[in-house]
Amino acid sequence: MQIISSKQELLSKVEVCKQQHQSIGLVPTMGALHEGHASLVSRSVKENDVTFVSTFVNPTQFNNKEDLAKYPRNPQADADLLAALGVDYMFAPAPEEMYSADEMATTFDFDFAGLDQVMEGKMRPGHFNGVVQVVSRLFYLVRPDRAYFGEKDFQQLCIIHHMVERSSLKDTFGNLQIIDCPIFRGADGLALSSRNARLSEEERDLAVNISRVLFMSRAWAKAHTVKEVEQLVTDTINSLPGLEVEYYQIVDATTLQPATTFANAVGCVTVYCGPVRLIDNIKY
Ligand code: PAF
Repeated sequence: MQIISSKQELLSKVEVCKQQHQSIGLVPTMGALHEGHASLVSRSVKENDVTFVSTFVNPTQFNNKEDLAKYPRNPQADADLLAALGVDYMFAPAPEEMYSADEMATTFDFDFAGLDQVMEGKMRPGHFNGVVQVVSRLFYLVRPDRAYFGEKDFQQLCIIHHMVERSSLKDTFGNLQIIDCPIFRGADGLALSSRNARLSEEERDLAVNISRVLFMSRAWAKAHTVKEVEQLVTDTINSLPGLEVEYYQIVDATTLQPATTFANAVGCVTVYCGPVRLIDNIKY
């Protein structure tokens, strides 16, 4: 596996693949890789001739400086894992390589068609502007045939589909296919996340309750309304000392607008587990 840190080198590797008519898979990540990422990467390796994995911790999508500073980083372990999985190129640029000073200082402008007005977008102003900025740049540089994203970041995935399939940028991405990959859970049900590395042992034991309650809510949905299930999930998680729900919303999986029935509905939760902010979701 080769590690690339400059855009120029990345462009030239991509050009060689294109000349040889090789299909390209891209897995955008922010490093601190875990089994969830590995499942996306293995799928890309299987489905494409060449796989690029980016591990860039994108500063423009962090609205909280402390969160950016504390975001786990483990470049050597990332490189070892990716090499073992059969990845061809790991792209790990410095922020200055990705952005001009101007781009770093201003919010990337994008029409989200309202998809950023709820949940993560509402709680983390500017977050999705930064996500679209970096993902569109990666797509432009790598020109992938397929790009792989996890369903844990459900709103992000919805916004990326919008960007590639419906937004004013859509014609710049060719026939790019966005591949949705299911949430990867530990044996105890906890959704894998790089942020889990920040949990203490006790916090990790507590965090397991988030997915437990979400799974229980599928049964509640059979006998309760959407509003009632939202309340039940929120109250049950909040009743556990050490966990605090920021929001639990059951939304339409395509429009992200509040659901009125459980058809095509997904419940998205954000919970503070001690100081660590975790997200998860469940389809009904
Ligand atoms: O999901 C992530 O890790 C990031 O938001 C992404 C898509 C790699 C963009 O920085």
